[in-house]
Amino acid sequence: MPTLSFVLNGRDTTVEYDEGMRLLAVLREICGVTSPKDGCAPEGVCGCCTVLLGGRPSLSCLIDPQRAAGLEIVTLEGLPEHQRQLLAGAFVREGAVQCGFCTPGIAVRAAHLLQKNPAPDRSRIERALSGHICRCTGYNRIVDAIRSAGQGWRQPHTFDPLEEFLEGPDHGGVGASSPRYRGVEQALGEKDFVADLEVENMLHAALVLSEHPRARVVRIDPASAAPLPGVKRVFTADDVPGVRNHGLIVPDWPLLIAEGETTRYVGDVLAVVVADTQHRARNAAELLSVEYEVLEPLCSPEASLAPGAPAIHEGGNLLEVCAFARGNVDAAFEQSAHIVEETFTTQRIEHAFLEPEACLALPEGGQLKVYSQGQGVHDDQRQIAAILGIEVDRIEVELVSNGGAFGGKEDLSVQGHTALASWLLQRPVKTVLTREQSILIHPKRHPLTLHYTAGCDGDGRLTAVRAEITGDTGAYASVGAKVLERAAGHSCGPYRVPNVDVTARTVYTNNPPCGAMRGFGANQAAFAIEGVLDRFAEKLGLDGYDIRERNVLDPGDRFATGQRMNASCGIRQTLEALREVYKATPRAGIGCGIKNTGIGNGMADTGRVAIEVLETGRLEILTGFTEMGQGLHTILRQVVSEETGLAMDIMDVRTVSLDEVECGMTTASRATALCTAAGQIAAKRLAGALETASLADLVGRRFKGEYICDFTTAPGAAVEEPVTHMAFGYATQVVILDDNGLVEKVIAAHDVGRAINPQSCAGQIEGGVHMGLGYALSEDFPCVEGKPVHRGLRDLGMLRAAQTPEIEVILVEVPDGVGGYGSKGVGEIGLVPTAGAVAGALHAHDGIWRNALPMIDAPAAQPSLPRSRRATATSSD
Ligand code: FES
Repeated sequence: MPTLSFVLNGRDTTVEYDEGMRLLAVLREICGVTSPKDGCAPEGVCGCCTVLLGGRPSLSCLIDPQRAAGLEIVTLEGLPEHQRQLLAGAFVREGAVQCGFCTPGIAVRAAHLLQKNPAPDRSRIERALSGHICRCTGYNRIVDAIRSAGQGWRQPHTFDPLEEFLEGPDHGGVGASSPRYRGVEQALGEKDFVADLEVENMLHAALVLSEHPRARVVRIDPASAAPLPGVKRVFTADDVPGVRNHGLIVPDWPLLIAEGETTRYVGDVLAVVVADTQHRARNAAELLSVEYEVLEPLCSPEASLAPGAPAIHEGGNLLEVCAFARGNVDAAFEQSAHIVEETFTTQRIEHAFLEPEACLALPEGGQLKVYSQGQGVHDDQRQIAAILGIEVDRIEVELVSNGGAFGGKEDLSVQGHTALASWLLQRPVKTVLTREQSILIHPKRHPLTLHYTAGCDGDGRLTAVRAEITGDTGAYASVGAKVLERAAGHSCGPYRVPNVDVTARTVYTNNPPCGAMRGFGANQAAFAIEGVLDRFAEKLGLDGYDIRERNVLDPGDRFATGQRMNASCGIRQTLEALREVYKATPRAGIGCGIKNTGIGNGMADTGRVAIEVLETGRLEILTGFTEMGQGLHTILRQVVSEETGLAMDIMDVRTVSLDEVECGMTTASRATALCTAAGQIAAKRLAGALETASLADLVGRRFKGEYICDFTTAPGAAVEEPVTHMAFGYATQVVILDDNGLVEKVIAAHDVGRAINPQSCAGQIEGGVHMGLGYALSEDFPCVEGKPVHRGLRDLGMLRAAQTPEIEVILVEVPDGVGGYGSKGVGEIGLVPTAGAVAGALHAHDGIWRNALPMIDAPAAQPSLPRSRRATATSSD
């Protein structure tokens, strides 16, 4: 084994490492330094692994360890304490930390920049951030945080970061912008992600994926990997003791494909290799021999539905049809003054959350403890129990941290394989996916084709909409049919349409599965209906505002599914908030959006919270919902503080799979509304108990809150007054271009019901708008013959810091009757109206209507293409 000596954070260090390891792996796996994160190794694109090597910021995942020989390496752990506190305090104060996975790498970069120039301007900071990806924040708050940190950079003895940044009179209760719970630890890289966890006697697992989207697996040869150094076992489909198929709705997804079976996409798992180190497990997995009989894949809905096409699943290739109608569309078309008929297409995109999937499982006394980063601890628990063939209560799943998800961590990924290996070996096992495997395995956003025919009267009021929508859902059901259901339900956007006829088809192919992603079908539908509105405006000589003003839903009007809007419908208020700016700006586009809160569509939505009084005098707040950067744990403390008057700093929050906090999946923008409602009930019970007892008297008591919405109906259900969703969020956005047709500014007015934490709330919207701009202009995930063209982060078309315009958020509060304190979901709607507004702005600039995403031909898209940029191992920034 090669040997290496260097100075790590001031200490002389000598290590032995396996041939082929990069510096990042040496630091994390051998030296135990975990603030540098592995977001994309060995691609060197995300910046999460940034360290100072010989005084220069360097991407450690690219670096051959021998290049560090004799040099000084400084990670975030090794910066002077005052600098660490300044950076952490500034990032938390400015709301620049969401999931926190990108933050330590950015903080190291910022430290280097501020050391050279403590007062950098925005463009200087944006240039320094060119080698970093943040998928959550939209960058602007990160730039603000670095500028703030610069304030005290050269005053270590007079500038107290804690006092300056984190203390203040309004840091508690509902409606306050309380600092993010454990935000300082996140910023310093001290809050562990699953990949950072180390336990005694731990083994590492790596997955072997199919090389072909459709192939019969003739032979898997575990013996080809078994003799390699460090390998302990190779597991295949025959080793699964319980039910091999899993799935959130349809159990059609095999944990492992068996010999003799046919693969359905390139993310199918064929074997699990377990070894003593991660490096060895991955090496052995790459060398495992598999023999295939390659078959022709089905790569489009048309090919899958063609007569004689082979069935991808036993039930055929059409997963589901969702259809509903109201009124008489054909009669309304005949009486309409204008008809618009257009076909819109949207692309498949990748979530690109920064933390690749990971899991750690520990067997203990006949039980299995699973540390997860998924979006649903209870769904993980249920599916793992089925795979192992044991009772659900023998599995406990706890969320460690979630480094971003955006819907991409709803399905079981490595949790099942890790649990299997750990259970069968009766040893702790950890699995961490490489970026390439993460991209290959998890579901994407659906590419949809949306054919619209719509009518309006002479004043521009919509008379009828017929929408025919087809979605490529890829290899497995995931929640694909629900996404298409949601696209159908949102097909008319936030507009009053008296006659509606909608059909949405969900079709299996051999492409990567498509499932949940932020917006969940509403984005695609919004792009289409906003395009239709703009076409009517053009025919009538109206502007984008006036056509929308005549059609937006008011209380009492019906949503596409027939649901009658109640008093909480705030779309008009968001529209009016932007009237002046839109009308006064020549190159502007406007778009409106609506997004359901909660799963609804006939399924119950549940929020549960329990508050336990601990012997230490602290409170532990338990929930089943995932904190994935949106700030859920922070607002739960705010709610308990609001109701009890207790200080938030005695409260901790955990997400665990206990029965009493069963909440279902963290999806559909539901966590805030349901969790605050349930948390309020639990906290009121605690407050009641505190009227006659002290906290010390209540040690060991658990105060529970439950909030269930069970009154929704499925789209098309035969009821007079359908209620397909418990609540909705509403938004209007204006996109402004500069003289060159580049996006200069986005103003986003959102009805959030009640902003429990205004800073977090605005941060969610900014991140959503940023993602929406990428979706509109440049993001894409093409596949050829079922194989993804891009297997890393570099070429996904995500906007970097310098490509992100100013984003102004206007919070509108029209309280909702269901969500806690009147809150509505805000996690998804940030990007629902964006693409439509961008299309309108581009048309205002060049007179061209665009019906296909991404609008890559547009001037605004050109500077947002990081395709030619290659990250370098070191830079002087
Ligand atoms: Fe930057 Fe999540 S906070 S990636």
